[in-house]
Amino acid sequence: MNYCSTAEKNGIAWRDMAKEILASECYKEKDAVENPSVIYPEYYLKPFHAYTQGNLSWEAAAEVEAATMSVCRRAIPSAASLEEATKVMRGNWLQAIEDHHNQNSGGLAVSDILDIGCSCGVSTRFLADKFPCANVTGLDLSPYFLAVAEYKEKLRPSRAKPIKWLHANGEETGLLSSTFDIISLAFVIHECPQYAIRGLLKEAYRLLRPGGTVALTDNSPKSKVIQNLSPVLFTLMKSTEPHLDEYYLLDLEKAMQETGFVNVRSILTDPRHRTVTGSIPRL
Ligand SMILES: C[S@@+](CC[C@H](N)C(=O)[O-])C[C@H]1O[C@@H](n2cnc3c(N)ncnc32)[C@H](O)[C@@H]1O
Repeated sequence: MNYCSTAEKNGIAWRDMAKEILASECYKEKDAVENPSVIYPEYYLKPFHAYTQGNLSWEAAAEVEAATMSVCRRAIPSAASLEEATKVMRGNWLQAIEDHHNQNSGGLAVSDILDIGCSCGVSTRFLADKFPCANVTGLDLSPYFLAVAEYKEKLRPSRAKPIKWLHANGEETGLLSSTFDIISLAFVIHECPQYAIRGLLKEAYRLLRPGGTVALTDNSPKSKVIQNLSPVLFTLMKSTEPHLDEYYLLDLEKAMQETGFVNVRSILTDPRHRTVTGSIPRL
């Protein structure tokens, strides 16, 4: 509950949202989505975000959407409301993806989208709303988060193309090669050690069609806001984000080029976050 009071001061009903999930029938969704043969990488089993069981608990799952909202609020402190902050942060990210795809894909239609590290489905829903003609899959290692994603999805009007949820490791999805046009990893890689980031990039490269677009959005090491964080705050963040140092020390653009991505570019999509996009070479 570390961030709970600040979030509530900012109009995010953290405790009420968590209560709703804990009182719901989410556990049934977990039974349906969980793949018992998933092997969790060692880095994923560490305590995380101040939860002893990391992302593998109902406590974390119940609070994760409120935590996601807090990220938007912090990103755009000048926004008049949470809704406005969300619209700006998510809107700029989606625009960066669309612009990159339009400029570099050689006209590849957006038919299949994969959201790796989809958590409780917030980023997945934004992608599905932006590209309503696409088949959208949200993939995550936490069956608890995926259960919340499906529970939340069922609360909204049904879509012509329902979102699919997949419990898998993004480094080794088991999905067929060259079957996606866009792959997004939103706020995932600051939670991963460098070897896992490279594994995620390699798998995204395998899964994308020629001309396809990968997009990674996360904290920008070049952001003045991030650079000016006080050492105390930074140490506090590191205590709940065990792989943060590795993320900041990685030259992401270079790692993408080494994986084989072309047209790699990075833009600051809000004062704290960059969106780094790249393409699979066209045939
Ligand atoms: C901060 S959350 C992502 C938030 C979400 N994409 C959004 O934008 O709202 C990071 C997610 O990455 C997932 N994750 C971390 N490593 C992963 C891996 N190797 N494969 C799949 N998911 C992973 C975590 O379980 C967590 O749900």
